[in-house]
Amino acid sequence: MAVHKIAVIGGDGTGPEVVAEGLKVLEAASHKLGFKYETTEFDYGGERYLRTGEVLPESAVSDMRQFDAIYLGAIGHPDVKPGILEKGILLALRFALDQYINLRPVKLYPGVETPLSGKGPEDIDYVVVRENTEGLYTGAGGSLKKDTPDEVAIQTSINTRKGVERCIRYAFEYCKKRNREKQLTLCGKTNVLTHAFDLWERAFNDVAKEYPDIKTDYAHVDATTMWMVKNPEWFDVIVTDNMFGDIITDLGAMTQGGMGIAAGGNINPEGVSMFEPIGGSAPKYTGQNVINPLAAIGALQMLLEVLGEQEAADLVDKAIAYVTGEKLESMGAGRMGYSTTEVGDLVAQFVADA
Ligand code: IPM
Ligand code: MN
Repeated sequence: MAVHKIAVIGGDGTGPEVVAEGLKVLEAASHKLGFKYETTEFDYGGERYLRTGEVLPESAVSDMRQFDAIYLGAIGHPDVKPGILEKGILLALRFALDQYINLRPVKLYPGVETPLSGKGPEDIDYVVVRENTEGLYTGAGGSLKKDTPDEVAIQTSINTRKGVERCIRYAFEYCKKRNREKQLTLCGKTNVLTHAFDLWERAFNDVAKEYPDIKTDYAHVDATTMWMVKNPEWFDVIVTDNMFGDIITDLGAMTQGGMGIAAGGNINPEGVSMFEPIGGSAPKYTGQNVINPLAAIGALQMLLEVLGEQEAADLVDKAIAYVTGEKLESMGAGRMGYSTTEVGDLVAQFVADA
């Protein structure tokens, strides 16, 4: 039997604490279902940067390529200027490993409070497929006459037919496999971004022909945010570009109970994928054993799915639903009614007893 090789980057702040709980659940699942794995830890993050002056070691990308998956806690340090670690570690790995999908489920688990009044778990259950290597994130552009009154700043959105099409094709495949409403919504801005989203729209319509059983839909990004609040039940799978995906998934995370529960995967379907809770490093809660580890456990659930351990992934999903539905008082740090490690124990115990 294959041994899944997993690189673990605990990262900054509360990252290592939540990752430890995810690994606890991984161990329970492996024990229960009999798959094998091994983990190797890497110290990438703010502390390492402050100590060595380098964001990633030169060998980082080739090191990461040796693994079947990467499990990441959080990147972000209060003593490091914003942007350095995000760009130098998180975005660098996403780009170098060509993780061209950022998969972000927006799922309200039972017992979790949502700010959307009158909406429950049956209404909030969709997935955003965010393009993850192009758009406004490539750094293309430049400045002229910096620090003068005539300063010019240009930030260009790069959309390649290949990059857009592979993202859209992934979304169709995912929608088919998910097998719920079989409805894929393209979220864009065709009325204003007439170059970029013209390409997106044509690629979407072309790929749609290969999936006659999937219903297609289109929504402008501003309207998408409205429906996400007012009628989240209208969505099954949404596909969108990098920047819009970044923004709408923070909104989605809030509707599913906040950063304590929202997980995501940076996926290269042909390569090495990286899974993370989508919240930050929450430095003020570091070391207090109060942060919610469920987002990291949700990221582990996604990791298992991509490794092909579907049974384990389903079991972890059930365990999360059990813990939110029957145990936790709130998703907020310090308000769960349990400590970080106790929440990890509850999930792991459910998995073990299943
Ligand atoms: C996210 C984050 C990152 C992004 C930042 C930290 C660069 O907000 O994963 O959504 O914008 O992609
Ligand atoms: Mn974001």
